[in-house]
Amino acid sequence: MAYQIKVNKTKDSRLPGVDFKNIPFGKVFSDHMFEADYIDGAWTNPNIRPVEPLAIHPANLALHYGQSIFEGMKAFADHEGHPVLFRPEMHAKRMNASGARMSMPDIPEELFLQALDALVSLEREWIPTEPGSSLYLRPLMFATDEFIGVAASQTYKFLILALPVGPYYSKPVKLIVEDHFVRAVAGGTGEAKTAGNYAASLLPARLAREKGYDQVMWMDAHEFKYIQEVGTMNLFFVFKDKIVTPATDGAILKGITRNSFIHILNDWGYAVEERPISIDEVADAYREGNLIEIFGSGTAAVASQVSLLTYGALDIHFNESNWDMSFKLKQTLEQIRHGLIEDKFGWVVPIEHPVEMA
Ligand code: COI
Repeated sequence: MAYQIKVNKTKDSRLPGVDFKNIPFGKVFSDHMFEADYIDGAWTNPNIRPVEPLAIHPANLALHYGQSIFEGMKAFADHEGHPVLFRPEMHAKRMNASGARMSMPDIPEELFLQALDALVSLEREWIPTEPGSSLYLRPLMFATDEFIGVAASQTYKFLILALPVGPYYSKPVKLIVEDHFVRAVAGGTGEAKTAGNYAASLLPARLAREKGYDQVMWMDAHEFKYIQEVGTMNLFFVFKDKIVTPATDGAILKGITRNSFIHILNDWGYAVEERPISIDEVADAYREGNLIEIFGSGTAAVASQVSLLTYGALDIHFNESNWDMSFKLKQTLEQIRHGLIEDKFGWVVPIEHPVEMA
């Protein structure tokens, strides 16, 4: 089904004022956003309009009870300058999986994809070309009913914002193993990309920052023994004889970059072990000299190396000159996204803007 997406263009583009060589992550927005409203069981009024504040009723259900989900994805310019999206179908599916967990309606995949296509097509001049940069896309859905009672909303808003971004982490990160707070438990909402998971991470992250760390490494909620993720990224552990990433057991976000790295590693002949991995296994490997690198994977983070991991009294430092896998993965992903090497997995989707812009 082809959606009719109305377009109301700004008369006053902010593009000429943007310093693309110096973009802080998450603060610079393109001129336009996509918007659709879910009313009476259907998505209506798909449109693109200038980014501006929304009027929200104080009893908005999302503000009170947290029905709010989002995606993080990216558009790039390929080596000929044509805009492309990275794995948009997988993001559409994950958005709906998050929505199902939070009792929110599905967004038809065609609507999700056509909205992205139309928005990125309109905002293609906003795609930065500096190495490591991209147009970050933030699809977002939240409840819009005005009601002070714990219930699933009957109405929702679906927005997509576009932001030119550079790297999320500009240098390797320092992590501390969290031994008090928990992020998620299987059966909870840890697998959903929902606002509350991020809200719950803010206090532990602040306490970690006060001790000189960038983020916490989350442990399982039962024994504080098995590693989960970082919240902003999934984790990979490179040992001398194996590569391990925690199995997504219902408490860990099913990262699309994580999935892409596993495919690339398999293609290179590495069997990635997706299984529970304990912090003691990592500490023992470090003491025995078998731990080479730890890195995080995420849409925003891409591949971000860990320079220090603190586990109780143990500080795990790395020999940065041994880091190799994370660099190679990051470079390969960049090359696939920019059409510089064969996209053998079919991940890169060109922007075609077949959508009629009314
Ligand atoms: C992403 O990687 O896209 C996320 O949503 C994580 C957030 C830290 C920016």
